Amino acid sequence: MNSHTLNDSTEVPAIGFGTYPLKDEEGITAIVGALEAGYRYLDTAVNYGNETEVGEALRRSGLPREDVRIATKIPGRFHAKDLALTSLRDSAQRLGVEQIDVGLIHWPNPSVGLYVEAWQALVEAQQEGLVRTIGVSNFTGEHLRRIIDETGVTPAINQIEVHPLFPQQEMLQVDADLGILTQAWSPMGKRSAPFEAEPVAAAAKAHDVSPGQVILRWHLQRGVMPLPKSATPSRQADNLDVFGFELSQQEVDAISALGRPDGRLFGGDPDTHDEQ
Ligand SMILES: NC(=O)c1ccc[n+]([C@@H]2O[C@H](COP(=O)([O-])OP(=O)(O)OC[C@H]3O[C@@H](n4cnc5c(N)ncnc54)[C@H](OP(=O)(O)O)[C@@H]3O)[C@@H](O)[C@H]2O)c1
Repeated sequence: MNSHTLNDSTEVPAIGFGTYPLKDEEGITAIVGALEAGYRYLDTAVNYGNETEVGEALRRSGLPREDVRIATKIPGRFHAKDLALTSLRDSAQRLGVEQIDVGLIHWPNPSVGLYVEAWQALVEAQQEGLVRTIGVSNFTGEHLRRIIDETGVTPAINQIEVHPLFPQQEMLQVDADLGILTQAWSPMGKRSAPFEAEPVAAAAKAHDVSPGQVILRWHLQRGVMPLPKSATPSRQADNLDVFGFELSQQEVDAISALGRPDGRLFGGDPDTHDEQ
């Protein structure tokens, strides 16, 4: 698979696997299936309650540890610096790994106002070797500039909501200008995936691929790393099989034009959303 080189010189694959809400034995089976299908980056979080399952899936897959990147996230209730460090240590224990490959702040929770402390904890955890790559999720330009100004350290990743109904052109530019890789959560748009929308359906027909593959290709051509979730083996495979065709710029633009100001899936505006 193609890859991105991050601003800390580590590499991540072009596509990752979203693990929410995969849990229990069924969840482990789905995640092992994803690893067998070829995914090498698993996205989890403390708040998904499935770090144990993600670690177990990694071991059951039999893949060498260094071949798979595991990302997890610090929840809002652990933003104070000591709590954030505890959260990361506990995550490593639940995952059963010595080092977390990617540690992110899940949401900035600006009303609590402690995300700079959570960032300082990640910087320290990286220096200690507990976390390899550090980044954030759901950060706006203002949040990003604040943590960079206060610590001198730029995140490697910003994981945000991106899908055709909410293309986030401006945030993609903010991240790119700062040298940050944008990851897309809910890259299909989940329940609201515009599979039937004209530009998606027309491109699927033109390239003889599925609408889901068109949407993932749209992400890749915009420089975004999508994190599709699927518990269905055939979709897991389809979602990786997107390197054999290319959308025209016109097709990319037509899909971006599906965006709407109210296109967020659940109104998760980082300036106001509180995630505990
Ligand atoms: N940082 C954050 O705040 C945040 C927030 C939300 C999500 N996330 C991360 O992002 C990941 C993905 O987001 P998501 O699960 O919300 O949404 P998503 O990946 O956009 O959509 C997942 C849904 O789409 C279906 N699907 C997957 N591939 C498909 C295809 N090719 N054709 C048709 N349907 C397809 C899946 O069904 P089946 O499973 O039945 O195949 C599932 O119901 C999560 O798992 C999580 O890791 C992060």
